[in-house]
Amino acid sequence: MNTKKWKHGSFFHFISDMSKCFRHIKEFILPVFLISVLGSCAGTVPQPSPRHAEAAAKQWPGTTLQDLVRGRELYVSHCSSCHSLYSPTEYPAEHWRKIVPEMKVRAKIGEDEVLNIARYLITMSEADSISRRRKISDGS
Ligand code: HEC
Repeated sequence: MNTKKWKHGSFFHFISDMSKCFRHIKEFILPVFLISVLGSCAGTVPQPSPRHAEAAAKQWPGTTLQDLVRGRELYVSHCSSCHSLYSPTEYPAEHWRKIVPEMKVRAKIGEDEVLNIARYLITMSEADSISRRRKISDGS
């Protein structure tokens, strides 16, 4: 006859255990959420590699990996106040050549900054379209 009571008790235990569990889930979900948001930003704005620096130096002699990294930082800090950041691979290089000078006026940045941003965006965009072309030709 105690069974009913016991079952009740265990039900409430179950609920309170669950709510404890949810508290942990919240502790767990928040960091995971933040990491995935930050991770997706990093995906949109890819890090340049030495291979990219090599490609950039063909167009702008003397360009270093450091210049591209700086360009990325400037892009993130100066170009995200009015709209979210576009991925460099979202537009072909020719489009970036047109857009960046237009946005220079909006972002109120100097020649040095705009050159670094343009180098970064153009290099990353070209590298992506080259690797895509390679993949296509590899496939055939
Ligand atoms: C003061 C606000 C502002 C800042 C800062 C700004 N933009 Fe924009 N951007 C806009 C607005 C408004 C539009 C949409 C209207 C348009 O395309 O003219 C836009 C559109 C764009 C587009 C889409 C254009 C297209 O052809 O589809 C790109 C790419 C872009 N911005 C890149 C940049 C870059 C790179 C920078 C940093 C150098 C930057 N933006 C800084 C306001 C800004």
